[in-house]
Amino acid sequence: MTTISESRFDALLAADERIEPRDEMPEAYRATLIRQIAQHAHSEIIGMQPEGNWLTRAPSLRRKAILLAKVQDEAGHGLYLYAAAETLGVSRTELLDALHTGRQRYSSIFNYPTLTWADVGAIGWLVDGAAIVNQIPLTRCSFGPYARAMVRICQEESFHQRQGYESLHTLARGTEGQRAMAQDAVDRWWWPSLMMFGPPDATSTHSSRSTEWKIKRHSNDELRQRFVDLCVPQAEILGLTLPDADLRWNEQTGHYDYGEIDWAEFKAVLDGDGPCNRQRIERRTQAHRDGQWVRDAAAAYQAKHGQTPAA
Ligand code: 3HC
Repeated sequence: MTTISESRFDALLAADERIEPRDEMPEAYRATLIRQIAQHAHSEIIGMQPEGNWLTRAPSLRRKAILLAKVQDEAGHGLYLYAAAETLGVSRTELLDALHTGRQRYSSIFNYPTLTWADVGAIGWLVDGAAIVNQIPLTRCSFGPYARAMVRICQEESFHQRQGYESLHTLARGTEGQRAMAQDAVDRWWWPSLMMFGPPDATSTHSSRSTEWKIKRHSNDELRQRFVDLCVPQAEILGLTLPDADLRWNEQTGHYDYGEIDWAEFKAVLDGDGPCNRQRIERRTQAHRDGQWVRDAAAAYQAKHGQTPAA
C-alpha cells in the first residue's frame, strides 16, 4: 500500500479521478464501499433463485436458453463484484459469512416469489430495468474496481431488460389468459421495483456521505423518478397498466407523479419478514454447504501444486 496522505485522496476526488486499491483512503470510505459492493454482489447471487425457479419450466427451448444465459450472467456479476470488494482487503469467505448470518443485506426485491412464467418477463423489464437506472451512474463511481466492474455488468443488464420486455410483449399479445398473467406479474412487481432504489432521500442513512465521496452520483429519489419516467411509456407500448391510480404526467415538473410507496412493507422486508426471506437464505446456505467439497478439493490442489487449479 503506497503511503500517500489522505489529502491526496481529497485531491483525487476533487479532480474526479479514480481511487485505486493501493491509494490510502479514509476507513469510513473503505467500509461503505465494502458494505455497498458486498450487498450488490449478494443481490446478484440471491437474485439467481427467483428466476432459476423457472429454468426447468420455461415454455420453449428459446426461452429456456435465454433464461439460462441470464441466470449465469447474474452469477458472473456476483463474482466480479466480490472480486472488486476483495481489493479493499476483505475476503469472500468473510463476505459470504456476513450474508449467511444476516450481518449484510441483499436487495429487498429478491424476497418476492415468482408465481408464474410472466414473472420472469416482469423481473427482466422492471427489476433489471431498475438495476440499469441505478447502476449506470456507478460506472462513474470514484472507486476504480467498482466502476470498471459496472461497465460490463450494465451491458449485460440491458440484454436482461430487453429479453424480459420482449417476453411480456409476447404474452400481452397472446391469449386472454397470457395477457392476464402478464398484467398480474406487473401488478405484483411494480411497487417492490420502486423500493429497489432505497428509502426516500430524507431517510437515507448513507446518501450524503456516498454522494460526497462520489460513490453515489444521484440520489435514491432522483433515480426512482428516472425509472418511473422510463416505464410509463414502455407500459403503454406493452398495453399493460401500472398499478398506481396516482400516476399522471406533471407538466410543471416534466415528470410523472406517482403514488405513495408502502415504506412499512419495505421495512418489513428489510427486517426479514418478506414473503421469501427465509427460503432465500436457507437455499443459499445449503448451496454453500453443498459446495464445500469443491473448496476442499481446490485447497488440496493448491497445497500440493502451489497454485489454484486452472478453471
Ligand atoms: N434492499 C435492501 N436494503 C436496502 C435497499 C434495498 N432495496 N435499499 C436500501 N437498503 C438499505 C441500505 O443497505 C442501508 O442499510 P445498511 O446501512 O444496513 O446497509 C439502508 O437501507 C439505508 O439505505 P441508504 O439509501 O442509506 O443505502 P445506500 O446509500 O447504500 O443506497 C442502494 C441503497 C441505492 C441500493 C445502494 O446501496 C446502491 O446503489 N447499491 C448498488 C446497487 C445494488 O446493490 N443493487 C441491487 C439491485 S439487484 C441487482 O442489481 C441484480 C440485478 O441482476 C437485477
